[in-house]
Amino acid sequence: MATISLQAPQALRGIIDVPGDKSISHRAVIFNAVAEGSAQIDHFLTGADCLATIDCMRALGVDVSRDGDRVRVVGAGLRGLREPAAVLDCGNSGTTLRLLSGLLAGQPLFAILTGDASLRARPQQRIVGPLRALGAHLDGRRNGDLAPLAVRGRTLEGGHYALPIASAQVKSALLLAALAGTGPLKLTGRIDSRDHTERMLSAMGIDVQVRSDAITLHPPTHPVFPYPLSLRVPGDPSSAAFWWVAAAIHPDAELTTPAVCLNPSRTGALDVLRAMGAKISIQNERLEGSEPVGDVTVSSSTLHGVEIAGADLIPRLIDEIPVLAIAAAYAHGDTVIRDAQELRAKETDRIATVAAGLAALGIHSEPTADGMGLTGSGGVALHGAALHSHGDHRLAMAWAVAALVAQDTITINDADAVTVSYPTFWETLRQIAA
Ligand code: S3P
Repeated sequence: MATISLQAPQALRGIIDVPGDKSISHRAVIFNAVAEGSAQIDHFLTGADCLATIDCMRALGVDVSRDGDRVRVVGAGLRGLREPAAVLDCGNSGTTLRLLSGLLAGQPLFAILTGDASLRARPQQRIVGPLRALGAHLDGRRNGDLAPLAVRGRTLEGGHYALPIASAQVKSALLLAALAGTGPLKLTGRIDSRDHTERMLSAMGIDVQVRSDAITLHPPTHPVFPYPLSLRVPGDPSSAAFWWVAAAIHPDAELTTPAVCLNPSRTGALDVLRAMGAKISIQNERLEGSEPVGDVTVSSSTLHGVEIAGADLIPRLIDEIPVLAIAAAYAHGDTVIRDAQELRAKETDRIATVAAGLAALGIHSEPTADGMGLTGSGGVALHGAALHSHGDHRLAMAWAVAALVAQDTITINDADAVTVSYPTFWETLRQIAA
């Protein structure tokens, strides 16, 4: 429950090795755990969420070893997982709970998955409903909407499901459930969420066909699949976004984040910051494994408000909205955020918690069911304030960015929430502000 006090620094300069992408780190461990052979994962995110995934895979009998940010996974094969002897604890991690629920729904074993108070309050019907529709047996509190979830796994036959929300966790849960099944799975509807699962499974030799309107996965019929996949995890754009906003709003700043994942399903924040007037340059664009990466540099800019809305944009920046709200709070003019009702189902209700934090910073916002409207200070320093992370890692870091342009001290309670996705965040902030 650490409390951190911050004051606006004179300048921000640095080249920041942003930790590995959270979504890709989870997937690299889970998918390699059911592969036929060993894989080495470098630049793995050692945040609490991804460590929870490692612990769960070990409890399922998989040999996973870790030395710093290097992880070695000895795959157990698609039919080699062991029934866990105890409840699987996913901590704060929705990705762990949802991807593993999907994977285990298609495996012949019984498992119970749970997590911390925040995770146990988040909606799970979004995976339980579609998995049941494919014939899986899952249950939980409130008829399966709340963890702990009990999974009585079985071999599934595949089928068709039309996704009603653009959620990579739901999409991935279904694809993993189908992996050890007897027939193909076709997904239609809102398949336009981050596509790391499709890219990685393809690279492991799984037949996943992606069209603009459908994804079809054929379970492998030959036992050499999935192949193990060694990789270097690219930097997490959702973590880099804190530095991008920091550099854009601070009057004397230039920050570079090398080798960040620039998968188009993840770069909405860069698009919005550019539209707000941020000075952004991208160098060395290249492919690393199955993901595009590049070095992103952002420097002091004068930002103006924008509209952040639309079914094609919101899924591409959903995790960056708290820090984009800080950019908007310091910008000139109005910003409107719409179509982001998913924020209400994150680690906290991020519409309510962001609006409360903005109010403490002296920025009045109008929350709506699916977003908010606010008028920026126009480059006038934000108020000093005592803010709370509410245990939400992205709030703790968004408040830290606000502190870079505040007139008085900002204190952040429960600041160690950052360990979920960015354990070295406070250390890096100290270095770039020195
Ligand atoms: C994630 C998907 C997103 C995102 C989360 C990570 C993933 O959630 O917010 O932080 O790794 O699949 P949804 O699938 O609920 O949109």
